[in-house]
Amino acid sequence: MKALVLSGGSGTRLRPFSYSMPKQLIPIANKPVLEHVLEDIRNSGVTDIGIIVGNWAPQIAEVIGDGTRLGVQVTYIPQDEPLGLAHCVTLAEPFLGDDDFVMYLGDNMLPEGTADIAEEFRASRPAAQIVVHKVADPRAFGVAELDTEGRVTRLVEKPQEPRSDLALIGVYFFTPDIHRAVASIEPSARGELEITDAIQWLLDDGAEIKASEYQGYWKDTGRADDVLECNRHLLGTLRPAVLGEADEASELTGQVRIEAGARVVRSRIEGPVVVGAGSVIEDSHIGPDTAIGQHCTLRDTRIRDSIVLDGATISEVPGIRGSIIGRNATVGAGADVDLYHRLVVGDHTRIEVAA
Ligand code: DAU
Repeated sequence: MKALVLSGGSGTRLRPFSYSMPKQLIPIANKPVLEHVLEDIRNSGVTDIGIIVGNWAPQIAEVIGDGTRLGVQVTYIPQDEPLGLAHCVTLAEPFLGDDDFVMYLGDNMLPEGTADIAEEFRASRPAAQIVVHKVADPRAFGVAELDTEGRVTRLVEKPQEPRSDLALIGVYFFTPDIHRAVASIEPSARGELEITDAIQWLLDDGAEIKASEYQGYWKDTGRADDVLECNRHLLGTLRPAVLGEADEASELTGQVRIEAGARVVRSRIEGPVVVGAGSVIEDSHIGPDTAIGQHCTLRDTRIRDSIVLDGATISEVPGIRGSIIGRNATVGAGADVDLYHRLVVGDHTRIEVAA
């Protein structure tokens, strides 16, 4: 079995981050979403992985490389325009050949893993096996309708009036039958070749489509609030360790991971928190629910429920929460600033200040 990971697309809902990096590289608990995805695929015994990449191909290749570091072999498959999930399958046909494969959306997080579902698929090989999860509002997703025996009867992409609460959550298992289906469908109202329509085509053609309900935590990390929520969830499963240094004047409580080369000085770290390699935390109170990337500097700062990306500097800010601070950003008190804020803010940035 092979895998096809979808890491193209535009990521407009994650602006301003998606102006400078692909959404699949946003770190959750200090690891890019795409790495979490590749690890789940590897854990289900699949190591031959094609990755669909768009404009951000060089950035993705820089982080993932040929996959060796993660114990997989990666083949990059370029997509010039995001023409839909089924379009990705068409592009990948030469890579996939006649093999069964798992298709995994590169911005979906299923931290409890899909190895069991992969096993089920291998054992019974239906034409397609979809992974579903109960959601409160399914209108933003593909939605599956099942009969009383649990067989899929109908699939609809982003229905206005969903007839079930089972959303498709970004992991699909296919036999080569899917290639006939993607070649037969037309673009949807939003102009994309929908994988949901291709699976519906298989159903109409009499094929067996199975659904497995994923019971664990799931998140489509398409928006900033989803990224923060997922970060909170994953930090809660972190293995605590102090590989860097914390001085005697610092207090570490709860699940705290300080990576090698990081330094904590006169600070309070309230887990779950991860501090990335080479970062310096001084006279600050960090956490809970906070991930600090690599080579960041935080001084005289209080921050909780946030993500700070690599190389950022925060100084003398008494209260930050629910925030994502981009790479190499600088946030802090300035010499000439008293009652006024001084802001140099990029496009589509969101800033909320205390009134
Ligand atoms: O998150 C689950 C949902 O993902 C499903 O419930 C929907 O049925 C499915 O259509 C999909 O919906 P989205 O509208 O959220 O898909 P999005 O455009 O975010 O793309 C999902 C991933 O695939 C993302 O990592 C980008 C990548 N992609 C997307 C398109 C359209 C590509 O690589 N190429 C593409 O052409």
